Amino acid sequence: MVNEMSTQILNILKDRKATRAFSSAKLPEEMINQLMDAAQLSASCFNNQPWRFLFLTEESALEKGRMALSKGNGWAKEALLLVVGFTKPDLDCQLPDGRNYFQFDLGMAVQNILLQATELNLVARPMAGFSQDVIRQEFDIPKEFEIMVMVAIGFEGNINEMDEKLQAKSKEPRKRNPLPANFFINNYE
Ligand SMILES: Cc1cc2nc3c(=O)[nH]c(=O)nc-3n(C[C@H](O)[C@H](O)[C@H](O)COP(=O)(O)O)c2cc1C
Repeated sequence: MVNEMSTQILNILKDRKATRAFSSAKLPEEMINQLMDAAQLSASCFNNQPWRFLFLTEESALEKGRMALSKGNGWAKEALLLVVGFTKPDLDCQLPDGRNYFQFDLGMAVQNILLQATELNLVARPMAGFSQDVIRQEFDIPKEFEIMVMVAIGFEGNINEMDEKLQAKSKEPRKRNPLPANFFINNYE
């Protein structure tokens, strides 16, 4: 996108797999620990570390997580790791002008998980399509927390075994705006 100069991080970002097919192989504990370490090393306002993650690895917990998924995210039921990311406003900076950083910092930590998963050659797809109420109820998460994201993670499965619509979606090239739509240099518009 930018130029041909290749760097490790840019390569990882280019390689990031957000396909929707998972193999039935369980993630080794070492990998799960690395995903946690990656998130924990994230930057945060005042080093508040406002992210809270619930890692669902056992079948009974995964089953509860799967119940929350939207119909369109049914493919995520095959993932053998579901990560729930949640946070609340008073865990992070709240500035007098109204800027609150809890979700911003949770998002940065989620990105670290996606990057580490990519380095481990895993598929990791973040999702907003789930019921916050179901997760809250099943795992007794207090109402002050905003349950922002679920991430389906696992070894890549065979895309060709998914139904045709999902196959087509998963084979689409990644789309991005041209840089000038999002970036401004020295002046805004
Ligand atoms: C906050 C957030 C919510 C998302 N929700 C869903 C979702 O519910 N289902 C899904 O299939 N993908 C979901 N995605 C994945 C995006 O659709 C995907 O990242 C985007 O289309 C760009 O594609 P890429 O990740 O392959 O580059 C979500 C991503 C983010 C960051």
